[in-house]
Amino acid sequence: MSSDARSNDASTFLVALKAIVGERYVLTDAVDTALFLTDHRGRYHGKALAVVRPASTDEVAKLVKACAEAGIAIVPQGGNTGLCGGATPLEPRPTVVLRLDRMNRIRAVSPAEETITVEAGCILADIQGAAAKEGLLFPLSLGAEGSCQIGGNISTNAGGIAVLRYGNMRQLVLGLEVVLADGTVLDGLRRLRKDNAGYDLKQLFIGAEGTLGVVTAATLKLFPAIRSRAITMMQLDSVEDALTLFARARAVFGERISSFEIIGSSYMDFVLRYVPGTVMPFAQKSPWYLLIEAGDSQLDAPLAAAMEGFLADAFEAGLISDATIASSLAQEEAIWKLRHGVTGEFKLAGKTMSHDTSVPVAEQPAFVTRVEEGVLKAYPDANVMMVGHIGDGNIHVVVLFPHERFAGSEDFEAASDAIDVIIDDVAMELGGSITAEHGVGTTYRKRLARTKNPAELVVMRQIKAMLDPENRMNPGKLFLPDTAA
Ligand code: LAC
Ligand code: ZN
Repeated sequence: MSSDARSNDASTFLVALKAIVGERYVLTDAVDTALFLTDHRGRYHGKALAVVRPASTDEVAKLVKACAEAGIAIVPQGGNTGLCGGATPLEPRPTVVLRLDRMNRIRAVSPAEETITVEAGCILADIQGAAAKEGLLFPLSLGAEGSCQIGGNISTNAGGIAVLRYGNMRQLVLGLEVVLADGTVLDGLRRLRKDNAGYDLKQLFIGAEGTLGVVTAATLKLFPAIRSRAITMMQLDSVEDALTLFARARAVFGERISSFEIIGSSYMDFVLRYVPGTVMPFAQKSPWYLLIEAGDSQLDAPLAAAMEGFLADAFEAGLISDATIASSLAQEEAIWKLRHGVTGEFKLAGKTMSHDTSVPVAEQPAFVTRVEEGVLKAYPDANVMMVGHIGDGNIHVVVLFPHERFAGSEDFEAASDAIDVIIDDVAMELGGSITAEHGVGTTYRKRLARTKNPAELVVMRQIKAMLDPENRMNPGKLFLPDTAA
């Protein structure tokens, strides 16, 4: 085909897209599309024929059909806050980025059922707000909640800081509406708490990172609002002690603990140095810090008093060396600020390699010790920072090097691969996973191929081939190209 014929095809295709969503919602100029062709960490830069912004499920279905007819690939994109490059078009083939941001309607809220039905482009914080207006709680909570979209949260099976109590995204979805690769709308927006009528198809699309279809809407579970809270941070010597405290806290507070988060000393030093407005609440440093949040839906529940008792017992048992309980909203926020997302600041500090490993909860002391030893043996100048959701067995290892440490990007990639192997080997020996809540995207494909049980990888590829036989739905994500599974 001559290049003239090809560009004619491309412009005919763009005319078809414009007829579906309207001219102004098909973006092709570099200035308009740049933001959507680069990932959140600024690590990947992609290319697309257009960034298209549909307003309804019907428009998504028509767009997907048009892409199917023209053989064009589709990369769905929500708030573009993902950490693994899952929403950036990186394949060398004609691709459309489907931004769901205009699909931001809350279709229904039912206080009686404790459900909410939302479109994929709803911002997570807006869903939390809509639930709060009804005196209810939508519990998914994470650093990017002010800009991430629920479609992306679903597609990556997002986790965050309240998984311990409420589960991750998967546990919060009752029903899903999905547009399949051929444009068929799979309408599974059921509001049922119980439904055993055949395969639970929605589970396939949760965490599929857009590789099997486009999530366009969801019915989600709501919970009673939290009306009493206690937030505390304490200093401790070891991850073993953190697990002892976990068991004790469960004995006192039961399911009312929503967050049980650990921060290592070098991560804390990093936060205090680079995140503006953070203040150390203790006189001295310590090897580890623990943040606990407990909540009750009863008004004026005596949580703070119970927390004081818990801390006094922990002192007496020699498990903690200091502690602080927030007594105002400002203090609660100050404590959480020491824990929350610092992706932007990492870039300032140097070259980072971020991980999202999970291991069984009881294996975390071994994981932490062996990873630190292994990385420092291979790279004595590495700064191994750890932070994570210790109640979920999910520790983020962030390895930091000075900017000038690597001669070029190849050196960096080689070191990054070597450190991945060190961490993944420990995780696999302990029965863990290479990604607990961030997803695979582009960044972790090699690690998935190396660590996933081969029989499971075969079934994953069979499912992909069945639902997307032409490999047009977010191609190149999850699976390494050309790897026979
Ligand atoms: C965190 C994000 C990065 O827990 O998952 O900080
Ligand atoms: Zn996390």
